[in-house]
Amino acid sequence: MSAFETVLYEKKDHIAYVTLNRPQALNAYSVRMRDDLYQVLSAVKDDDEIRVAIVRGASDKAFCAGADLTEFLTAPSAIKARQIRFRRDLWRLFLSVPQPLIAAVHGYVLGSGMEIAASCDIRIASENAQFGLPEVGLGIIPGAGGTQTIPRLIGTSRSLEMLLTNRWISSAEAHTFGLVNRVVPNGQHVRAAEEIAQKIASFDPLAVREAKYAVTHGLDMSLEQGLELEKRLTLMRRRSVRTGV
Ligand code: COA
Repeated sequence: MSAFETVLYEKKDHIAYVTLNRPQALNAYSVRMRDDLYQVLSAVKDDDEIRVAIVRGASDKAFCAGADLTEFLTAPSAIKARQIRFRRDLWRLFLSVPQPLIAAVHGYVLGSGMEIAASCDIRIASENAQFGLPEVGLGIIPGAGGTQTIPRLIGTSRSLEMLLTNRWISSAEAHTFGLVNRVVPNGQHVRAAEEIAQKIASFDPLAVREAKYAVTHGLDMSLEQGLELEKRLTLMRRRSVRTGV
């Protein structure tokens, strides 16, 4: 296991485990965590042995309680601006990982915690998960891609209600909204994510990557362009199955 200061990283049977690890602060997302996650996700992206990754939180109470408020309140503005640029890079990195990412969440899933989950492809939640976007109440807006990724998952009005009123939702409501794929009994979220990861890892890794690529990139295109993308990928796949390369 590779241990960064704020993230644990391990690999087993083609599955990567990325664990947010600041339990004393409910895994609040800090500058250090940003840098650690950047390294870990870069490693996942470049590692062909990894077919799927699970992102989870080490604390009993939280997947992630949002941005680290102690840093948020003390950083001088120039540093803050730099942090935002870096953060944007991390979120682009999240969205550019070719392998599927599964978020296994429980407890508090707030602010950047909710945005990390939204940057993954599949979300599994424990019954006790609570989702919220406290940013606007703190005088900021989400800076981890959430204003774009979350509406794509749950629609504009639900996102805006959460964002503009800081209404938190339960795992059951998150499931109704389509934010999470599945709700499981408390403590079973990682196991449930592992079962999905094992299924994905058992498939042809190139087919998995191309299917993810077609869906995630196609969403930003017109239907016509998306169908063209799918056709190109299908032809490439048939050719490679025929030629064995
Ligand atoms: N940044 C830094 N530290 C945080 C944190 C955050 N976002 N969220 C929690 N912590 C720390 C607390 O300060 C506390 O530290 P301490 O034990 O040294 O005092 C520890 O984590 C446990 O949190 P605590 O508040 O005691 O737990 P709780 O169960 O009573 O409440 C929350 C949990 C999530 C409701 C509460 O911690 C909270 O509101 N956190 C801030 C959420 C937020 O606004 N995030 C920013 C989004 S942009």
